[in-house]
Amino acid sequence: MVTGASRGIGEASARALDGAGARVVLSGRTMPDLERVAGDLSNDPLIIQADLVEAGAGTRLAERIVVEAGGADILVNNAGIPMRRTPEQLTETDVDRVFAINVRALLMLSVGLGPSMIERGGGSIVNISSIAGLTGPLGRVAYAGTKGAVDAMTRALAADWGPHGIRVNSICPGIITTAIWEESRRTVPGLIEELAQQVPLKRWGDGDDVADVVVFFASDASRYITGETIAVDGGMARLSTATVKLPEME
Ligand SMILES: NC(=O)c1ccc[n+]([C@@H]2O[C@H](COP(=O)([O-])OP(=O)(O)OC[C@H]3O[C@@H](n4cnc5c(N)ncnc54)[C@H](OP(=O)(O)O)[C@@H]3O)[C@@H](O)[C@H]2O)c1
Repeated sequence: MVTGASRGIGEASARALDGAGARVVLSGRTMPDLERVAGDLSNDPLIIQADLVEAGAGTRLAERIVVEAGGADILVNNAGIPMRRTPEQLTETDVDRVFAINVRALLMLSVGLGPSMIERGGGSIVNISSIAGLTGPLGRVAYAGTKGAVDAMTRALAADWGPHGIRVNSICPGIITTAIWEESRRTVPGLIEELAQQVPLKRWGDGDDVADVVVFFASDASRYITGETIAVDGGMARLSTATVKLPEME
């Protein structure tokens, strides 16, 4: 089950999981995009359209997955929205919206699918978080809060469901060329080069860079890993790229 499978990281993950042999259930709001992705998949994909902003949406989607697909062994909680607001700009409506999609729906979908995963003998939940939750970025306090919450819930749910054979891990992408960045990449002069310079590997990531790690966490290759958070960011969050000239040392 992949949420936000209509484009970006979710689309790449759906394609990679299908390529690895999984039957993929794709979810999102935009039917033409979901149909476009499903049309390229080989293992009898299923589409379940859902808007995850409403109260109860995560629970309802879980129920539909159980009824329409018989449950899921792998859940990729990828659907999410960005929220660029300075503390001065931020409204309560903004906060409700970003937490509803990025946190509440993710948790309630996971909690809703858990019992059927347990019945099926275990599973793997992969949460798509962000390096924004690791670093304290400027002008994105609400978004960073949602992703910090995702990482904390990843650890807590991994503790709850480890005994049932459900592993829960999160991935923190860095700067990935998806629709989230489309407008800024088009309108902010020098943005592409300037941000690439801040990445130790000196390039933006793409959906496949993240999708390969999703497949790793979904598969038995990661069978002894749970409650873990990994940055897929070319080293951006944890390595220093600052070059300071120091006096010669003895
Ligand atoms: N791109 C980056 O640089 C980056 C960095 C760090 C973390 N991330 C995280 O990666 C995840 C995917 O982002 P992306 O870059 O691939 O973004 P994207 O291209 O904008 O895709 C977002 C996906 O989420 C779905 N979605 C958005 N609002 C939804 C709603 N109300 N209900 C249901 N589905 C909804 C969208 O589908 P519909 O529009 O069809 O509903 C779309 O498939 C997000 O959680 C994001 O925070 C991205």
